Amino acid sequence: MEQKKQIPQVPLARFLKHSLAILNNPLPFHKDNFERLGDTFRLNISFTESVLFSRDAGLLQYVLQKNQRNYSKSNIQTEDLAKYVGKGLLTAEGEHWQKQRKLIQPAFHKKQLILLLDNIKAAITSEILKIETSVDFDVFPIMNDLAFQTVAKSLFSSAIEEDEIKKIQYITEAAQKMLVKELRQPYLGWWFKASGKIEKHLALTREARVILKKLISERKQSGERFDDLLDMLLDARYEDGKPMEEEQLVDELLILFTAGHETTSNALTFAAQLIAKHPEVQEKIINEIDAFTTQDLMQSLKESPYTQAVVEESMRLYPPAYFIDRVNIEDEYFAGMSFPKGSSLLFSIYEIHRDPTFWEDSLQFKPERFIGVPKNQYSSHYFPFGAGPRMCIGNNFAMYEMVIAIQTLVSNFKIMHKTSAIEITPLITLKPKNAILQFEER
Ligand code: HEM
Repeated sequence: MEQKKQIPQVPLARFLKHSLAILNNPLPFHKDNFERLGDTFRLNISFTESVLFSRDAGLLQYVLQKNQRNYSKSNIQTEDLAKYVGKGLLTAEGEHWQKQRKLIQPAFHKKQLILLLDNIKAAITSEILKIETSVDFDVFPIMNDLAFQTVAKSLFSSAIEEDEIKKIQYITEAAQKMLVKELRQPYLGWWFKASGKIEKHLALTREARVILKKLISERKQSGERFDDLLDMLLDARYEDGKPMEEEQLVDELLILFTAGHETTSNALTFAAQLIAKHPEVQEKIINEIDAFTTQDLMQSLKESPYTQAVVEESMRLYPPAYFIDRVNIEDEYFAGMSFPKGSSLLFSIYEIHRDPTFWEDSLQFKPERFIGVPKNQYSSHYFPFGAGPRMCIGNNFAMYEMVIAIQTLVSNFKIMHKTSAIEITPLITLKPKNAILQFEER
């Protein structure tokens, strides 16, 4: 029988000693513990609570794929986030999740996404036109608007007004910021409630729901078809032939806005910073675009393996979803380690993506490493979109969007970096900080 392994522990005193630094950026603290203690350790965060941190890619695959039935998501998504965006794909569990995933999955199939490409391209182009040349600026707000507009126009086509987009963007971002505060300062929970801050944000999300309901009802009454995501979601039928209830549809819309925009804007900002530091990569992207044999967007995406590799390599170094968390439902035993039921597991995608045993020159930006390599050669240690049944439903959508965005940027501008280091803010997602770049017309 396999020998039982003791999981190394980080004592509470050590956690408290580093708590300020952890609040600012927890990644160096995690790295230090991994280096000292190995790929899985237990961090004691109070006298009664602990979290299992792991950068063991085998354990991650086991949890997300092989034995996924024994795992649920943590309360962060299923309760803390759900109170703002409702119970939809990202935040639901069990049979409800399964039913929703089955219903919504077809809308994200590649053949359906073809119908959205023109909307995606138009949203990107109109945002990129706003870029000012020859001035230093933080590129994140541009990428953020670009990603939000792309989701909005893919969902509603031209049937959504600019002020409605702005309002929904303001509300979803405000709710996310509030959630970050609640998670980072749990000891102020009583104050957030007593001061009415949480209620204020709940009221805002109710406002967003009113706008979304109005858009749904206008679409239903108009009888007009746009072949956008809203049409797909309205057409979708459960096994019993019934459509989604309106409240459920609104939850899913809010979730698509939330899940689909911040991750993509982070990834695009990091990618822009990396290519700014590597002008030779920009040249190769231009060469790829110049060699297109077609104007057709889907065909040109197929002719873009290099730009795709640039995006993949950016997300290897800077994965927007830099942690994936789960809780085991029953006691678990893996490679000699045992986890009593109810253990919180936190997997560091950031560490797995930078592990030198998997990646040669692991800290260097080398898009070529993804070219001509079959997916199954790296899928055991590359998880930008997660893995298993709860893998990102928008992964193809996001890849198409990011490849088109990078190509549109590079074909219009030379991108130059203005700061030497790429700075990060690890919050719920891995966010860029001070992403100052300069653009010159080509
Ligand atoms: C670079 C962009 C993106 C990244 C890195 C990303 C990453 C992820 C990851 C890691 C998960 C799994 C989380 C877990 O297992 O706990 C996830 C789930 C999800 N993502 Fe994405 N995502 C991106 C873009 C998008 C877009 C564009 C959409 C929609 C328009 C989207 C919608 C969703 C939804 C609905 C889920 C929940 C799926 C489920 O549980 O069934 N994501 N995403």
